[in-house]
Amino acid sequence: MEFDKIINLLLIEDETYDVNRIKRTLEPFNDKIQIKKIVSDGLSAIELLSDNNDEFDVVIMDYQIVGPLTGEKLIRRIKLIDPFIQIIVITKMTINVTNFELAKDLIEAGAMWFCTKYPSDIKDYIYQPTDLLLSIMNAYEKKKLNLEKSRTNLQLDKSIDKIIAQKPLIGNSAPIKKLQKQIEKASQQDVTVLISGASGTGKELVATHIHYLSKRKFENLVTINAGSIPQNLIESELFGFEKGSFTGANSSKKGLFEQANNGTLFMDEIGELPTNSQVKLLRVLQEGEIDKIGRTEKIKVNVRIISATNQDLEKAVENKTFRSDLFYRLNVIYIYTPTLLERIEDIPELAGHFISQFSKQMSIPKPGLSKDALDVLQNYNWPGNIRQFQNVIQRVLLTAEDEITKDDLLGVMKMEKHSGSVDGPKFSFGDKILEWKEMENIFRWRYFNHVMDKTKNEAEAARLLGFAPSNFYRMLGKMGFK
Ligand SMILES: Nc1ncnc2c1ncn2[C@@H]1O[C@H](COP(=O)(O)OP(=O)(O)OP(=O)(O)O)[C@@H](O)[C@H]1O
Ligand SMILES: [Mg+2]
Repeated sequence: MEFDKIINLLLIEDETYDVNRIKRTLEPFNDKIQIKKIVSDGLSAIELLSDNNDEFDVVIMDYQIVGPLTGEKLIRRIKLIDPFIQIIVITKMTINVTNFELAKDLIEAGAMWFCTKYPSDIKDYIYQPTDLLLSIMNAYEKKKLNLEKSRTNLQLDKSIDKIIAQKPLIGNSAPIKKLQKQIEKASQQDVTVLISGASGTGKELVATHIHYLSKRKFENLVTINAGSIPQNLIESELFGFEKGSFTGANSSKKGLFEQANNGTLFMDEIGELPTNSQVKLLRVLQEGEIDKIGRTEKIKVNVRIISATNQDLEKAVENKTFRSDLFYRLNVIYIYTPTLLERIEDIPELAGHFISQFSKQMSIPKPGLSKDALDVLQNYNWPGNIRQFQNVIQRVLLTAEDEITKDDLLGVMKMEKHSGSVDGPKFSFGDKILEWKEMENIFRWRYFNHVMDKTKNEAEAARLLGFAPSNFYRMLGKMGFK
């Protein structure tokens, strides 16, 4: 243990005889420990501590002192004033009686340690000196550790506030207010949440908010998309495997459940989970243990599940493609994310938000939005919801000048509806140099439009492009088509 400063003690003791014994016991260590103040009753101790916050590291208090404020009550009051201060209690020697109950009460009240004083005929010492010294030193270490922990927690809190601030849930409509209330409620309870809503309505955003507002916020938020992982790999993704458990398992792999331990697992497109994986997931939820492939003992995990779906899962239950027992386990709190059509009144605010956000990201001056352009935005039916809305705004910023006009928007949205006006992917972007990612997005979008124009059939397009259907639909969603 290092000593960077002298440990300051407050002594609460009403008998001069014992005050002197304590002083003598600690005398050899006065270069490390100083009794800074001595008071004889609880109320004066409280008064002193309230006025001199920070001055004391450790309190040594006699269990039996005069006055109304003693024992556990006093300990609790001290901890209320300064939760970091450490308290060592000195009690009477009680031979033949077990002190267990008393010890338990003291520790529960917030004491760090207690010791039974020597019989009063030992006049030089109250307690074995090095033992007392060690207890005080331990108490001081504990104070320092707790302070550090609370400082890092504070920093973490700040960075978590930042995460949420970067992904705000925009809107003031009744459905969004309801959604915000539900998020708040779900973040305070440690139960499963099922988020259901159309594509691009903010399901993942809602899950992110719930996690970062919950008491699990300092732990991992891990995401798995059941629709984008080949079915035969889902279980090794979820539960992991041990080295050598099958050919090709050259090293062991932590599953997502282990990665999310103590935190949250977000299971996106839960409706795509194959039936045999549904059974295994249900068992994990029931037992709190996972079966890692190639391992005989189970591993205990504590994971909160938030799942999302854009299918009608109740219908899937009726059709027996989704297990009803799993459905009820996952659905303790149910949250519906409204479509953009259900909250048209949020459109001006959303437009303002995304225009600011993207012009900042693209380092261009923020353009205005003309009245009739806003009308266009408010009169469209937005099948791809916020994701599509966001894409339209992002794209219109590439062509708009100092004000986004109706024509700018119609140009972009006509392409959105793949009206056939685009004949094949083009690489020309006028004089503008686009960021790589922007160029990629636009190219991807144009190429996709081109393929759709040629095939007029999504399944056929998916096949020609070499996508598994679920990946294809996910991509459509991402591009704002679905
Ligand atoms: N209320 C909102 N305010 C601001 N941005 C939002 C809002 N809702 C969604 N978004 C944004 O829209 C985009 C799509 O949201 P998200 O990915 O959460 O939707 P989703 O329902 O999971 O979509 P999908 O079904 O396609 O997976 C994200 O960029 C998200 O940040
Ligand atoms: Mg999603």
